[in-house]
Amino acid sequence: MKRMSIVAAALLTLAQASKSYRDASLSVSERVEDLLAQMTVEEKAGQLFHSMLPQAPLNVTSETRNSTEFMLKEQLLTHFNLLGGISNPAETANFINSVQKVALSTRLGIPVTISTDPRHAFTENIGTGFAATSFSQWPESLGLAALRDASLVEKFADIARQEARWSRIANTMGEDAALTSELVVAYLKGFHGENFGPDSVSTVTKHFPGAGPMENGEDSHFVYGKNQTYPGNNFDHHLIPFKAAIAAGARQMMPYYSRPIGTKYEEVGFSFNKGIVTDLLQHELGFKGVVCSDWGLITDTEIAGQDMPARAWGVEYLSEKERALRILQSGVDQFGGETRPELIVDLVKDGAVSEERLDVSVRKLLREKFELGLFDSPFVDVTKANGTVGKPEFVQAGNDAQRRAYTLLTNTILPLKVEGKWYLEGINATYLESRGLTVVKTPEEAEFAILRLQTPYVPRPGGFEKNYHTGTLEFSEEEKGRQAKIYATVPTIVDIRLERPAAIPEIAEHAAALLANFGSGPEALLDVIFNVNGYGPEGKLPFDLPRSNAAVEASREDVPFDTKDPVFRFGHGLRYE
Ligand SMILES: *[C@@H]1O[C@H](CO)[C@@H](O)[C@H](O)[C@H]1NC(C)=O
Ligand SMILES: *[C@@H]1O[C@H](CO)[C@@H](O)[C@H](O)[C@H]1NC(C)=O
Ligand SMILES: *[C@@H]1O[C@H](CO)[C@@H](O)[C@H](O)[C@H]1NC(C)=O
Ligand SMILES: *[C@@H]1O[C@H](CO)[C@@H](O)[C@H](O)[C@H]1NC(C)=O
Ligand SMILES: *[C@@H]1O[C@H](CO)[C@@H](O)[C@H](O)[C@H]1NC(C)=O
Repeated sequence: MKRMSIVAAALLTLAQASKSYRDASLSVSERVEDLLAQMTVEEKAGQLFHSMLPQAPLNVTSETRNSTEFMLKEQLLTHFNLLGGISNPAETANFINSVQKVALSTRLGIPVTISTDPRHAFTENIGTGFAATSFSQWPESLGLAALRDASLVEKFADIARQEARWSRIANTMGEDAALTSELVVAYLKGFHGENFGPDSVSTVTKHFPGAGPMENGEDSHFVYGKNQTYPGNNFDHHLIPFKAAIAAGARQMMPYYSRPIGTKYEEVGFSFNKGIVTDLLQHELGFKGVVCSDWGLITDTEIAGQDMPARAWGVEYLSEKERALRILQSGVDQFGGETRPELIVDLVKDGAVSEERLDVSVRKLLREKFELGLFDSPFVDVTKANGTVGKPEFVQAGNDAQRRAYTLLTNTILPLKVEGKWYLEGINATYLESRGLTVVKTPEEAEFAILRLQTPYVPRPGGFEKNYHTGTLEFSEEEKGRQAKIYATVPTIVDIRLERPAAIPEIAEHAAALLANFGSGPEALLDVIFNVNGYGPEGKLPFDLPRSNAAVEASREDVPFDTKDPVFRFGHGLRYE
């Protein structure tokens, strides 16, 4: 009898213990510790992986991917980044809830956290962001930088927070570390809100320790772009915005793929780099949040039909298991874009990694879930999401920013009256015709011309690689000659999308007006050209525009404002009279 009551008491305690992490009246630390104490090695290992989530049926398996159901139920993953555009917010909200339901049905019912690359601008690249579809559409972050307006950045982030309730910082705020610092702080404030909590979106600040100084301007997703170089001995300068972000409460940090060449640090990818993650980021800079690696450092894979070796730069010779070990030893908490919890379980079984080491990272990851309120309110409110995404005032604010971020570099004719015959390239005639204008087929017939251009780049092959625009910043001689004829024939307004700092002195010299945009729709351009509702260019360049590609090649990768005799300086931007 006595024995039975002891057993009963023990069972009762167990039952209570197993539930107390669900008790919202306890502190986050108490809840985290209670849950952690009940987790198996397998459950802990699952937390360490942040995998990709296509908006597809949960039971579909492919050659490169186990089914979502398998990842949730067998591999015990609870962190996913959502792929693909969102055309129907209610559908996506329901989809996310269906994923959540499966997660909640597992033994401990740890809710999933959904993340995403930015989806509020124009870039469409599975590796960096998705074009806004249902969401309000804004210029790229460079356009926000062009407006030099921290309160607008905060407003943007606040709107993106409400629309998405998820995001990560991507792209850049330009060439100036002080401006970047000011704006990144506003950005974090907008996403996190006054106090980090259930209404916040957590952010990943990236890429540590600054991803700008790429050797030859290449991208370290790719083998030829693995090196980051510091010929100007300017490593510390790139830490300035990260210090500001940490002081402003940055929650998560992502080291870049690249490896530093010629510094005091080991020449291995930043997530494999203990000197970078543990010594610099965590000890020197005092960062206490989650460190999530960039995507795919362990496993060779295929992206958009292209073979992509694991980005294990400098440690290519290690086995998959050794790479995972090395990443954990460097101080990283979570493996981005990987689904290999079995490697971690093996490492613990082998005695190579202690369970206490896993606890350090799992504790941080669980804390984030508790603070975001995911245990207490795991489901997306479909009606609210449907009513919030693409709300008219949000769309209006994005449209307003697209117009105001226009940066006027040269001008002899703007603004224009709504009249005349127009020759167009890069903009559909219907946009002008619907404003009552006449569109003609040749420059010779026209009174004005609009050329809507993209920053030059050299196309790369491959389904994935083609999205990364690199190579010369000048137009080819042939294209320069073709444009010159138009400029000589008709007053021409050039609108160039500056996704990188183009080298276009010839356009500055010969176009009747040169406008730069950082992501804008055709209606935004026309509103600026015709000064509709008082819209005029208000942007200032967030970087220098170089004289030539040769000047860029001669500049040092890690030194801002280093090209010789730039055509326009950082901060240049004319206004209408
Ligand atoms: C996946 O689930 C759907 C709906 O329940 C079902 O029709 C389909 O047969 C399943 N597919 C697989 C591969 O199990
Ligand atoms: C699917 O899961 C198994 C078992 O965990 C794992 O070995 C395999 O690598 C996974 N496949 C993919 C493509 O992630
Ligand atoms: C990177 O730097 C190393 C060391 O200086 C050099 O050997 C290598 O050619 C560079 N480029 C690439 C793509 O590895
Ligand atoms: C979502 O919003 C649209 C537009 O307001 C509405 O037509 C649709 O019925 C809503 N769907 C749901 C599921 O609430
Ligand atoms: C221009 O827009 C019209 C109407 O939206 C569309 O039918 C047409 O295909 C477009 N033309 C081009 C060249 O994109």
